Amino acid sequence: MKIEEIRLEELNPKKFIEGKIQEISSVIGNGLAISALSGGVDSSVVTILGHKALGNRLKTYFIDNGLMGENEPERVVLLFKELGVNVELVDAKEQFFDALKGITDPEEKREAITQTFYRHVLGRLVKDSGAKFLLQGTILTDVDETVAGIKRQHNVFEQLGIDPEQAFGYKIVEPLIQLRKPAVREVAKTLDLPEEIYKRMPFPGPALVARVIGEVTLEKIETVRKATKIVEEGLHDTEAFQYLAILHADKVTGIKEGKRDYGLQIEIRCWDSKDAITGSPTRLPHDTLYKLAERITTEVSGVVSVTYNITKKPPSTIEAV
Ligand code: XMP
Repeated sequence: MKIEEIRLEELNPKKFIEGKIQEISSVIGNGLAISALSGGVDSSVVTILGHKALGNRLKTYFIDNGLMGENEPERVVLLFKELGVNVELVDAKEQFFDALKGITDPEEKREAITQTFYRHVLGRLVKDSGAKFLLQGTILTDVDETVAGIKRQHNVFEQLGIDPEQAFGYKIVEPLIQLRKPAVREVAKTLDLPEEIYKRMPFPGPALVARVIGEVTLEKIETVRKATKIVEEGLHDTEAFQYLAILHADKVTGIKEGKRDYGLQIEIRCWDSKDAITGSPTRLPHDTLYKLAERITTEVSGVVSVTYNITKKPPSTIEAV
């Protein structure tokens, strides 16, 4: 069934919010629902809509998969506490790293994340809480790319013929499925979410796994997390759509303290885009890039090479995996 898009120009955020609160209330009835908050704009909006519709019949969890940005889990929990929403932090780091062990294929890595998240971690939370529904911030772009076979987004099921109730034991409710990112930001603003949320840069569901080429290990995640932080700090003022760091699997020859050093390669990507469907590399000043390279090679241990991606999407994608 084709999903009808609500374009930014035709969106009435107030009406949309009222409608969705009613819809969530009537679908969930007197039962319980779960929201898995990541701190991104989509899951934040869904959590607030659910909170308004269900009050404390909505259980909100932040699943710490060990694959997020630095201090992300604690920051998000605190921010929502200030908004009056209680978020429980669930430590699932070991489960995710165990599931990723030995896998190098990009789609298999995504599948490992999906299974760990939906079947094992959320499956247990839903069972333990007695909830029957998961509220989820899937947006139209996630569906489009998955259906087009470009990249299987970690959160798209029904459009692939997967029944979440049969597969995982709960129903998925997707209040944002007709929107794209700019419209979701508008709804977030109308909900009085802080700028930190409604302007937040997109971050992929599979988190830093989308930025490690080859097998994912704790050590590689730590490397890419440090590089990501430097890139985010260095490019924050560019107003680009999205910027990120990727850790390559191949090592290259470099020099350290006058000696040959076979080391790691980090690739920087910075995108101009409206909705992530197409994109082009931001024309960053060389000075900015040199500074990033300098910081990454001195602050991230083992890195001897930093490159900048100059390819458009398509044929590139925004993330590497
Ligand atoms: P790609 O790499 O496909 O990314 O050009 C397009 C946009 O989507 C984000 N992204 C994801 N978001 N689940 C999500 O919710 C995913 O599995 C996923 N993969 C990529 C990516 O960061 C970019 O903004």
